[in-house]
Amino acid sequence: MTDPAQTLPVPGAVGKLYDRLTLNAMNDGTFNTNVHIGYWDTPDSEASIEAAMDRLTDVFIERLKVDGSSHVLDLGCGVGGPGLRVVAHTGARVTGISISEEQIKAANRLAAEAGAADQAVFRHADAMKLDFPDGTFDAVMALESLCHMPDRQQVLTEVCRVLRPGGRLVLTDVFERFPRKEVRHPGIDKFCSGLMSTTADIDDYVALLHRSGLRLREILDVTEQTTLRLAEEIAKLSAVEDRPAALDESNFFTDDAFRPSDLAGVDDFGCLLATAERP
Ligand SMILES: C[S@@+](CC[C@H](N)C(=O)[O-])C[C@H]1O[C@@H](n2cnc3c(N)ncnc32)[C@H](O)[C@@H]1O
Repeated sequence: MTDPAQTLPVPGAVGKLYDRLTLNAMNDGTFNTNVHIGYWDTPDSEASIEAAMDRLTDVFIERLKVDGSSHVLDLGCGVGGPGLRVVAHTGARVTGISISEEQIKAANRLAAEAGAADQAVFRHADAMKLDFPDGTFDAVMALESLCHMPDRQQVLTEVCRVLRPGGRLVLTDVFERFPRKEVRHPGIDKFCSGLMSTTADIDDYVALLHRSGLRLREILDVTEQTTLRLAEEIAKLSAVEDRPAALDESNFFTDDAFRPSDLAGVDDFGCLLATAERP
């Protein structure tokens, strides 16, 4: 369960936030088809941030177990990068939804440019109330989107409804790794307020999935491979003169609300990777 003391995100406002971030990124040349953290397999991996972002989608693909006959829902699809990668690597059909209209415009444009508009369709919709019939999808992916939704239980129950029996859900979410402290690290506060998010409790996640009708297959703490490493990489880049504009966080987060480097070394800010199945 989400800590009741946390301010719950409002979907319409989250949509406006991502509209603004998307337009800013387009205007200042920092547009990236992935709007998520990276995944570094090992502590000594030398993968760039961009390669690690694609790797995170590949970690999802390994777990989704889909092929050319599958229909995948990308819940909180961003500007479509991960969904298009699923199409390219598996041949599956993807329907993506985002609460940001600007992201949806960008995602459909990217799908057309990639010649994949017949296999990837992106729609403006709120994940809190899905309008797909029961059992529509073979798999659902949710890369870093649940943290913006006001009720994880409601969303996961909806996900279970739209999955076919045997269909899989793969997700990442943020959580506080140690028992919640009385005073949270200010970097976590800035993340939650600046990016309109709440943190989950990993201990509650299994019950949360089960209460939604899903059966857990795997839950991993991937903090070292993801959030901690990203904050480290960004902090390193901040020290480099002449870094590419796309990797200058001050370009992306122009409103000064939150910067990934606010979380440098904050190892109680965790990331979990969960795979579940509709029985
Ligand atoms: C951190 S971005 C991740 C985007 C994408 N999954 C990726 O990995 O590139 C979070 C996404 O969740 C979407 N989102 C947040 N709340 C939502 C809601 N209530 N309904 C639909 N999408 C939502 C945002 O619009 C955004 O696309």
